[in-house]
This record gives sequence, C-alpha cells and structure tokens, in this order.
Amino acid sequence: MQAYEKLLEANKLWADKMVQDDPEYFERLAHLQTPQFLWIGCSDSRVPADKITGTQPGEIFVHRNVANLVIHTDVNLFSVLDYAVNQLKVKHVIVCGHYGCGGIKAAMTDHDYKYILNMWLRNIKDVYRLYREELDAITNIEARADRLSELNVKEQVMHLAKTSVIQRAWKYNNIPHLHGWVYGLKDGIINPVFEMAAGTHIDSLYEYDDL
Ligand code: CO
Repeated sequence: MQAYEKLLEANKLWADKMVQDDPEYFERLAHLQTPQFLWIGCSDSRVPADKITGTQPGEIFVHRNVANLVIHTDVNLFSVLDYAVNQLKVKHVIVCGHYGCGGIKAAMTDHDYKYILNMWLRNIKDVYRLYREELDAITNIEARADRLSELNVKEQVMHLAKTSVIQRAWKYNNIPHLHGWVYGLKDGIINPVFEMAAGTHIDSLYEYDDL
C-alpha cells in the first residue's frame, strides 16, 4: 500500500466511527459551522490545532503558514480573518507559535534560503531587530530562538490589532479577544504569552478614528 492510501483507509475508518457514535454527526456539521475561534498557527505538522486543544471539527476556523505570521499584505490571511471576524463572528483569535520552530530558527541565521523564503523570513528578522538587545543577551541559541517564538506571537497579535478589520469589530461588537500562545513540542503544553482584550488602545499612529 502506498503511504497516501493509508490516509484514505484511515479516513474511512474515522468516518465510520463518527457515524457509529453519532448518526447525525455529518448531517449536522454539513449545514452549520459556528466556530468561536480563529486559529493562526504554524504550518509545522507537529502542531495540529484541533488535536492539541481537544476540539472537534466545527470548533476552530484555521489559517496556517510558516511561523504563524500576520502580514498586512497577505490576501490569503486577510480573507480568512475578514470571514472569521465579520461572518462567523469568532470571539477569539489565537496566534499560536511553537518552541523549536524551524522558521524562527532559519530567520536567526544568515543563510540564503533563496528568494521566496528569504522574503517570508525577513518578517521574522524584523521582529528580532525590535527586541535585539533582549535576544542578543540570551547566550543559549535554543533559548534565544524560544524567546523569539514568544516575541513573534506577541508582534503578530499586535499586527492584528493594527488592522481596520479588528478595530471595527472591537468598536461595534466588542469582540474578538486576541491571544498569543506558544506550544511546546517537548511537553505538548501551550504557554499563553500575550493577550489583547477588545478595545485595547494601541499606538495612535495605527488607530483609525473614522471606522
Ligand atoms: Co514552526
């Protein structure tokens, strides 16, 4: 059997089991999706949003990219954000990074990853530059990368707060609450490192006053 065929086999078994446990399961989900959470996570295969949070299909709306970045020109991410906030009206947006992130580590090197990856990783280098003094003082490279993972989710949450999508939702609906989390590959535990409640004031340079 080919490796991919195992996935299709497992899928059949899973679908059978779900229907055995709850005959209406797929019928119900097919007609309704009301997730309370938008998850912006890393593409890393070891950080599946639903598994590590014990949630079921229908509970989390998910966007993933390398190193869980919120880049204000990313049409893909902003389509997801707009839909999640304005149509699904999610109550929480979670940016979840992870310790031992390959994207974070790559951005800390001076290696040329060629055009596209360099372009993407550059955003993480910009985060490093903001916290250069604190990060340079950490001599252990692994510990430094882990701290950058934490600072990175904090910055990405702040990027969310700078958008008119979030600011408008804060003004008119008083949601969503923004969270920055970092997941530990070694122990499976999520460390909440940063949060912003709806309506939190940010640098006035980024605040829209005519929403
Ligand atoms: Co990663």
